[in-house]
Amino acid sequence: MGKDVIIACDFPGGKQTLEFLDQFRGRKPFVKIGMELFYAEGPEIVRQIKARGHKIFLDLKLHDIPNTVKKAMAVLSRLDVDICNLHAAGTAEMMRAALEGLTRPDGSRPLLIAVTQLTSTNQEALENELLIHCPMDRVVMAYAENAKLAGLDGVVCSPLEAEKVHERCGKDFLTVTPGVRFADGDKGDQKRVMTPAQAKEIGSDYIVVGRPITAAEDPVAAYERCLAEFVG
Ligand code: C5P
Repeated sequence: MGKDVIIACDFPGGKQTLEFLDQFRGRKPFVKIGMELFYAEGPEIVRQIKARGHKIFLDLKLHDIPNTVKKAMAVLSRLDVDICNLHAAGTAEMMRAALEGLTRPDGSRPLLIAVTQLTSTNQEALENELLIHCPMDRVVMAYAENAKLAGLDGVVCSPLEAEKVHERCGKDFLTVTPGVRFADGDKGDQKRVMTPAQAKEIGSDYIVVGRPITAAEDPVAAYERCLAEFVG
């Protein structure tokens, strides 16, 4: 899979999501389904969107004991999604178990990427609550390397970290980056942002874009603009 724009479908239900996707007519954008939509609608919404011909990043961020994650990943793999994810904090053993669970009888599997540290966690919480006494960027890079060693395909990271992740883990190790905004757009609650063109420059493999597309007056035009800037 090459560079692509993934639309974060952060809608409360299936109806709104399918109506949103209807606007794209012939186009089949790559979509991200997160916890809110999945927990509201269950696996059926994944089957429906897949049946319409979209690629799917199922963003459920699994984190549990290795055996539980392995079994859950086997179920998600049968939904035929394209990308799944988990928390690297679950350890290399959990990540290897996840890969085993994801692998189908014919040897194929969805891509598996790791969340390193959530961007909502700051240095203070890292030290005082998680008791990790290390600068955030070192923690992020160490978790990315651990994911790579466990055999994962990449990480979700800030666009500002993508270049460093590629330096450490190789250019084939995928960087999937949210926090994207148009130069003339509203930042919303995102603090550290990049434009699609800048994300392309620094070598991000996939950008995850929500509100700049979903809340746009013309979502199809906003999506086309993202594609033009990021993929060219
Ligand atoms: O609307 P917006 O473009 O900010 O949406 C970004 C999407 O990426 C949301 O679904 C958000 O949950 C997700 N995300 C993020 N930052 C992370 C990880 C995921 O914004 N570090």
